[in-house]
Amino acid sequence: MPAPASGRGRRPSGARHHGRPTPTRRGAARDDQPRETPIEVTFLPGLGDVLADEIAEVLHPRRPAAPVAGRDDALAVAVSTPLAHTRRLTTAVAVFLVLHFDVPRPKSLTSGDHLARIVEAMYASLRVAGSSTFRFEAAGSDSSVFARLASELNAATGLKYDEKDGELVVRVRRGPARGEGDPGWDVLVRVGNRPLSARPWREADYPGAANATIAAAMTRIAGVVPEDRVVNLMCGSGTLLIERLLAGPAAAAVGIDDSNDAIAAAVENLAAAKLTRAATLITADIRDPQLEGGYDLLLADPPWGTLHGSHATNAELHADLLRSAHRLAAPGARLLVLTHEIKLMDRCLRETDQWQLREVTRVFAKGHHPRIYVLDRV
Ligand SMILES: C[S@@+](CC[C@H](N)C(=O)[O-])C[C@H]1O[C@@H](n2cnc3c(N)ncnc32)[C@H](O)[C@@H]1O
Repeated sequence: MPAPASGRGRRPSGARHHGRPTPTRRGAARDDQPRETPIEVTFLPGLGDVLADEIAEVLHPRRPAAPVAGRDDALAVAVSTPLAHTRRLTTAVAVFLVLHFDVPRPKSLTSGDHLARIVEAMYASLRVAGSSTFRFEAAGSDSSVFARLASELNAATGLKYDEKDGELVVRVRRGPARGEGDPGWDVLVRVGNRPLSARPWREADYPGAANATIAAAMTRIAGVVPEDRVVNLMCGSGTLLIERLLAGPAAAAVGIDDSNDAIAAAVENLAAAKLTRAATLITADIRDPQLEGGYDLLLADPPWGTLHGSHATNAELHADLLRSAHRLAAPGARLLVLTHEIKLMDRCLRETDQWQLREVTRVFAKGHHPRIYVLDRV
C-alpha cells in the first residue's frame, strides 16, 4: 500500500480497538488540566541551558525542562502545546515523543495494546512532517524481535522499514532505573522526518559551515535586538547571519567573506531562507580598512583545521579578527566568536585591550569542542 505522506494513511487498527490513552493524552492530571505530552529534546552538550530557556519560551511547559538521568544531551519535559510547535526550537537537535512500557523485553512491544501506542506516536510524528520510511535506533535492532516489530509497524502505518536511511526514527532503550524493580522499556518516536538541526534553508553545502543549532544558540546568547546593526564577519555560507535574521529583525544585516565560493553559498542559503532582501553580502577581506563600520552585534566563526587557512595563519587571523571587529564595532557593541582555536583565542584575549570577555560557552559537537566567546567592546 502507498505510504502515507502526511499521516493520513490507514488508521492504526489497534488504536481504535484498544481504548488505551493515546500519546497526546498521557500524563493528564485532571480533566480541567491541559493534556500533557512527555517529550525528550536532544541537543549538543553544552547548550542545555540555552535550550531549556528556549523550551520555556516556545512551549510554555508547566514545569521546566529537566536533564534526562545519565545523559548530557537530552532534556525531558511535558508539553500541552501542539506538537508542531516543537519545530520552532532552534537550539534543539531533535524532539522525541516518549512512551514507557512496563515490559521485561522488547518482544512484548508487539502485543496489540503496546503496538497501538507506538503507532499512535508515529502518526503524531507524521502529522507534523510526513515520512515514507522508518528505522530503529536500538541495541539488537537487527534481531528477529525487531524484524517482527518492523513488520507490525509497517502493516499498521504503511511506512516502509529502511534500517539504514529510514526517515522516522523509533528509538528503543531500557527505561529509567527504579531501584530493584525492572526498568521496563522506553520507545521514543522522533517528531518529523529530519532532525531539527538539518535546516531547510541549507541549500548550499559549504565546507566548514557552522552547526545551525550552535549558530541559533549564539543568537540567543547575544539577544535579539531589532535596533541592532548586525555583521557576520567571515560569513562563509551565512549560517550565523541566517539564524540571527530568522530569530527576529535587525536594523541592518551584512555578511563579509573574502571567498567568492562562500558568498555564492551565502546567496543561495539566504534565498532559501527567504532573507535575500534582509541581508547584504560583501566580498572582502575583513581587514580591509575601507569597510564601513558602526555595528552593534558582530558574529564570527574564523577558519579552523585545514578547511580554510591553517593553524599557523589562524594565530594572526584571530588577532586580526579582534582588531578588525573593534574597528567595525559601534560603542557598546558585542562580539560573539565561535572558535575551535581555544589556546589561540585565549592568548589573543590576554593580549588585547579592545575587548572584554563576558562569558564563554563550551560546546561538544561530534568530536569537536568549539567555544562561544561573548566579548564587549572596550
Ligand atoms: C569556518 S568558515 C565560516 C563558515 C560559516 N560560518 C558557515 O556557516 O558557512 C570561515 C570563513 O572565513 C573566511 N575567511 C578567512 N579569512 C578571511 C578574511 N581575512 N576575510 C574574510 N573572510 C575570511 C573563509 O573564506 C571561510 O568562509
